[in-house]
Amino acid sequence: MTATMSAWVQDGYGPASGVRLAERAVPEPGQGEVLLRVHATALNSGDVRIMRGDPLLVRPVFGLRRPRNPVRGMDVAGTVVARGSDVDIVRVGDDVVVELPGGGGLAEYAVAPAARLAARPPSVSTSDAATLPIAAGTAWQALVAAEVGDGQRVLVLGASGGVGTFAVQLAGLRGADVHATCSARNRVSLEALGATVVDREAPLTALPAGGYDAVIEIASGAPLRGLRRLVRDGGSVVLVGGDGGRVLGPVPRMLRGALLSIGARRRIRSLTAKTRPEILTALLDLAAGRLHPLIEREYAFADAGDALAHVEAGHTVGKVVVRVAE
Ligand SMILES: NC(=O)c1ccc[n+]([C@@H]2O[C@H](COP(=O)([O-])OP(=O)(O)OC[C@H]3O[C@@H](n4cnc5c(N)ncnc54)[C@H](OP(=O)(O)O)[C@@H]3O)[C@@H](O)[C@H]2O)c1
Repeated sequence: MTATMSAWVQDGYGPASGVRLAERAVPEPGQGEVLLRVHATALNSGDVRIMRGDPLLVRPVFGLRRPRNPVRGMDVAGTVVARGSDVDIVRVGDDVVVELPGGGGLAEYAVAPAARLAARPPSVSTSDAATLPIAAGTAWQALVAAEVGDGQRVLVLGASGGVGTFAVQLAGLRGADVHATCSARNRVSLEALGATVVDREAPLTALPAGGYDAVIEIASGAPLRGLRRLVRDGGSVVLVGGDGGRVLGPVPRMLRGALLSIGARRRIRSLTAKTRPEILTALLDLAAGRLHPLIEREYAFADAGDALAHVEAGHTVGKVVVRVAE
């Protein structure tokens, strides 16, 4: 194996225009880690948050002055090419999928913790597989938190991005009647995924009070009391995403949701999704049949900077994937 590799790196927090292609040493897997040959890396709005260090709250976690790992890209499908010590659950040659919380996916090789890996079924393409860890994993956990089940009516607010398009599909697979908001240009895509589309420009007050068993809030930014008004007694609003202030991001809104839920029959829950290989394995099983990731565009590795800029612009429809190697 070569000692160096190509990787997209950033020298400091900032926009996608500051990310450049560079030669780096191939990383070495440590104890409990494997080295992956990366095939496909899907991008998330979370990559942009880390790339820009925005909100500032992310900086103590990812690096105070610059990202500790200069390579973005968290959702990876690849092949195990080397194992560190104490790794016996996977072998060299295994095709796997993983979330790398600190990044590293926009590179020819990446190190991953063996305990986080899920096996990729041969019938799921590397591009489809790479879309799953963060976006579909978050949607899955949001639906579990909202206890969405058969015959329930769920409203997904801001449904056209990565998390949203998976939330719509996964809620449908749970037997729910799925309603969703998006801009007019994405209506057809959301309807094709099975949603009844509600115009996102219409005021929430036009929707029926108590008309939903659950609301999954991804991007509307609507007032919390207005969101809570939409769910029936015993139902819940799950806060997944949305912008916040420059310093604390969504945290103040999450705290307000918790305060409003004290003693309330309609709860507002804030989701902090966590990587769980068993959820990823279940998603890969679904992707081998009934779950179809919506991929807006695949970029060649040489154009990964453009892919980051596209996600940074905030109008992704479904997922964006970078093909690192065939
Ligand atoms: N809680 C957690 O653990 C967790 C985990 C992952 C992600 N998140 C959060 O979830 C959110 C979605 O992430 P993502 O990666 O799926 O984002 P994404 O793919 O970048 O989302 C882009 C989409 O959002 C839509 N959108 C933007 N503003 C909107 C608005 N005001 N109303 C309706 N739709 C709007 C855009 O539609 P238009 O182009 O039509 O505007 C676009 O299709 C982010 O805020 C992210 O930080 C949270």
